[in-house]
Amino acid sequence: MGNLKVLGIESSCDDTAIAVVEDGRTLVSQAAASSAKIHARYGGIVPEVAAREHTMAILPVLEETLERAQIPLAALDAIAVTEGPGLLGALLIGVTFAKALGVGLGIPVVGVHHLEAHLYANALIAPITFPALGLLVSGGHTTLVLWEGHGQLKVLGETRDDAAGEAFDKGARVLGLPYPGGPQIERLARTVEVKSGLRLPLANLGSKSLDFSFSGLKTATREMASTHPTRRAEIALALEDAVVRALVKITERALTQYPVADLYLAGGVTANGALRQAMADLAARRQVRLHLPPMGLCTDNAAMVAALGYYRLGQGHRMKNDDSARTTYSLGD
Ligand code: KG4
Ligand code: ZN
Repeated sequence: MGNLKVLGIESSCDDTAIAVVEDGRTLVSQAAASSAKIHARYGGIVPEVAAREHTMAILPVLEETLERAQIPLAALDAIAVTEGPGLLGALLIGVTFAKALGVGLGIPVVGVHHLEAHLYANALIAPITFPALGLLVSGGHTTLVLWEGHGQLKVLGETRDDAAGEAFDKGARVLGLPYPGGPQIERLARTVEVKSGLRLPLANLGSKSLDFSFSGLKTATREMASTHPTRRAEIALALEDAVVRALVKITERALTQYPVADLYLAGGVTANGALRQAMADLAARRQVRLHLPPMGLCTDNAAMVAALGYYRLGQGHRMKNDDSARTTYSLGD
C-alpha cells in the first residue's frame, strides 16, 4: 500500500483542470485547458460556451494528466471534484464525469467546495497550521474566514457587492483591457515609473466590519479615466493600490479581532505581486506567518481540489449517486 493518490477535477468556471496529488500534499502531475481566450471576445465568461468547452476538453486533459504522472487509471485511489459554487453547466460536466469515473473504477468520489479548495493550494507547500485566518480573493468571491481545522471554517466577512477580482476585471474593461483583467491591470501598473497622486477611494462599512465593498471602484475608475484619458497606466496603478489597501486594511482588522499566528491567502488575485508584497509587510508588522500559494496554483487548478479531497475523504465524506452540482454553496455548509 503506497501513498493515497487522489485525482482532482476542477470545472467550475473556464478552466478544465485535472491533477493527481499524493496524500493531500504532493503534486504528481496536472494538466488543464482554458476557454478564457474565447470568453475574452465577449468581455466576460459565457456560461454556455464554458460548458461546451469543458465537454470537449475533459478527456484529453485526463489523458494528459495520467501520461505526465506515468500511471494508469487503475492506480488512482479516489476522485475529488469541485461540487460548487460555480456555473451550473460547467460544474455538471466535472461532477458527472467524476461520478461516472468513480463507478467505473470502483473508487470513492468526494465533492469539494471551490473556495475551500483554493485555501488548500497552500497545503501543497506545507501542512496547514490551525487556527488561522484565511483570505479568499477570486473573481467571484472576497471572503475572510476563521479556519480552525480541516472542514471547520467560519465566515467572518465577505464582499457586499463585487469581488476583488471583479474590481480588476471591470476596471480593466473601463481601460479597454481584455478579460481577465487582473494580470492586465498589474502589467500596466508596472509600467508606471513615477508614482502619481492619482488615488481611488476606499469604501467605509464601519470601524468593526470585516466586510468588503468594491463596486464603487468601477464608477470611480471610469470617472478618473474620462478626466485623465492619457494616464491609463497611472489609473491601473491607482486601482491596484485601492484593492490592495482595502484587502490589507480589513485583514489587519480581522487579525486584531482574531489574533491567530497564521494567515493564509488564496484565490486568483493572490497572483498579484503588489498584494503579495503588501500582505508580507502586514505579516511582518503584526508578527504573523504569511502563507501564499505557489504562483502557479493561485488561479483555478485541480491540485487544490485533490488536496482538499484527501482530507474530506479522511473525514468520511463521499458523494452519493444523486448528489449533483451546487451552483450556490456556502462556505462552511
Ligand atoms: O480564483 P480564480 O482563478 O477564479 C475564480 O474562482 O474566480 O480568480 C480569477 C480572478 C480574476 O478576476 C482575475 O482577474 C484575478 O483573479 N487575477 C488577478 C491576477 N491574476 C488573476 N488579479 C490581480 N492581479 C493578478 N495578477
Ligand atoms: Zn477559483
